[in-house]
Amino acid sequence: MDFSHVAEPALNTTTDLLVIVVLGDPTKDPTFRLLDTATGKGLSEAAKTESFDGKSSQSIVFWTGGATGAKRIAALGAGPKADLETASLRDVGAGAAQLANRVGAKSLTLVMPSLGTPREAAAVQMIAEGAILGTYKFGRYLTGAEAKKPPSLQRFGIITDPKGNKPSAAQGRALAAALERAQVVSAAVNKARDMVNEPAAFMTPSQVAAEAEAIAKKHAAVTVQVLSAKKCEDLGMGMFLAVGRGSDQESKLIHLTYKPKKAKKKIALIGKGVTFDSGGYSLKPSNAMEDMKVDMSGAAAVICAIDALASLGCEFEVHAIAACCENLVSGRAYKLGDVLTSMDGTTVEINNTDAEGRLTLGDAITYVRTKVQPDEMIDFATLTGACMVALGPYTAGVMSDHDAFCKGWLSAAQRAGEDMWRLPLNPRLREQLKSPVADMRNTGDRFGGAITAGLFLKTFAKDTPWVHVDLAGPASLSSSRPSQPRGGTGFAVASIVEYLARA
Ligand code: BES
Ligand code: MN
Ligand code: ZN
Repeated sequence: MDFSHVAEPALNTTTDLLVIVVLGDPTKDPTFRLLDTATGKGLSEAAKTESFDGKSSQSIVFWTGGATGAKRIAALGAGPKADLETASLRDVGAGAAQLANRVGAKSLTLVMPSLGTPREAAAVQMIAEGAILGTYKFGRYLTGAEAKKPPSLQRFGIITDPKGNKPSAAQGRALAAALERAQVVSAAVNKARDMVNEPAAFMTPSQVAAEAEAIAKKHAAVTVQVLSAKKCEDLGMGMFLAVGRGSDQESKLIHLTYKPKKAKKKIALIGKGVTFDSGGYSLKPSNAMEDMKVDMSGAAAVICAIDALASLGCEFEVHAIAACCENLVSGRAYKLGDVLTSMDGTTVEINNTDAEGRLTLGDAITYVRTKVQPDEMIDFATLTGACMVALGPYTAGVMSDHDAFCKGWLSAAQRAGEDMWRLPLNPRLREQLKSPVADMRNTGDRFGGAITAGLFLKTFAKDTPWVHVDLAGPASLSSSRPSQPRGGTGFAVASIVEYLARA
């Protein structure tokens, strides 16, 4: 899909589908009124007949019969302005693109609602992202003709001034940059979705490594290192390797590096890369196991974020690390009661083989802390069902002892339109991790499960500034919204890019 800023009057612009975004009562919208007059009140009649009142996700499509430059005009409701969040702007872009594809339009021109904000470019970015994210489909395994049909929409224009005045040179540059950013970010999000949506039989640790290698190949500033299980053993990663021991797929530690010419700081992103989580001998019931190919969502996010960062350029040296393995059962699998020795020497008693993510991440964190030595590190993990119990399915839990760093991260997430909420790393809960036979055990009680997992990881982060993001909920969706079809969401990619590459 091609994106462009259109400096033409909404009335004259030539397009298959002109979309006006209506925030509540359409009769109060100046663009709606302008086009209504041009169509001899046809638009308002259509709105009345179809009870269109500008509520979010309502729409009407109207044939103009040549009354305007557009073949069709659609009014797309977005609800009252006060309720319009960053993420709902993505849904607006998604809704518009979906409408175009439904009516078979090749070109669409969307008239931005007047938001009265100084961040017009940011709003344009969100709408363009929505158009790409909302037309995403994971169709690799669908064989029907309908599934193979390419979408009709090819050109997406955005009008910011319905009168068609040219923007200032600076504003024009800002809008062009926003459209470029939108395309890079949403391509990376969709790539992460693909990786998550692929069945575990295909998206094995070696395949995740192959995806990382392909990204490194694309960019001169990106290099990749894939550490074999043997190499990880030499490094003493006893926790990480124990988790993958029950699988025939070799565990791999993937390390991507983006190096700009002159770096301000060194940032490490760590992703949980359990390509399938059966629970191990603490076996999950079928209904809980069904979706466990998503357990590498953190790895997909950090790997795909590097792709976007390298395309956009960023002033930090960024490392993405994913310790990838499968948590299965076999004669070689790790067992309850085993005592593992981690890379930093801490011993851990296993009281639940389904709390495997923290084991893989603990060693990945030690690897990063000692080998990469970053100024800041952030881990992304589908770590606990408890986090979903606490915050619901759409919000990630964020934990950190580094206030300024954590606040900076949360505000980037908010700008990117991804829901994240901080949970306290209450040190009293550490009692739950006491073990009579080892330095720690790997799980606590039911209460505070997201936090005890965070405290477990903190043991390995030590004093390195660290933020932990538990995205067990938002990494995948069972019911869709316009900009997010069901399945993998690519959650966190947009926030990472916003945090590290805000122009
Ligand atoms: N991968 C799961 C967490 C998860 C649950 C992710 C639902 C996505 C959706 C993780 O490895 C796990 O099994 N956690 C256990 C921890 C428990 C044993 C302390 C859980 O949440 O039940
Ligand atoms: Mn598990
Ligand atoms: Zn898991």
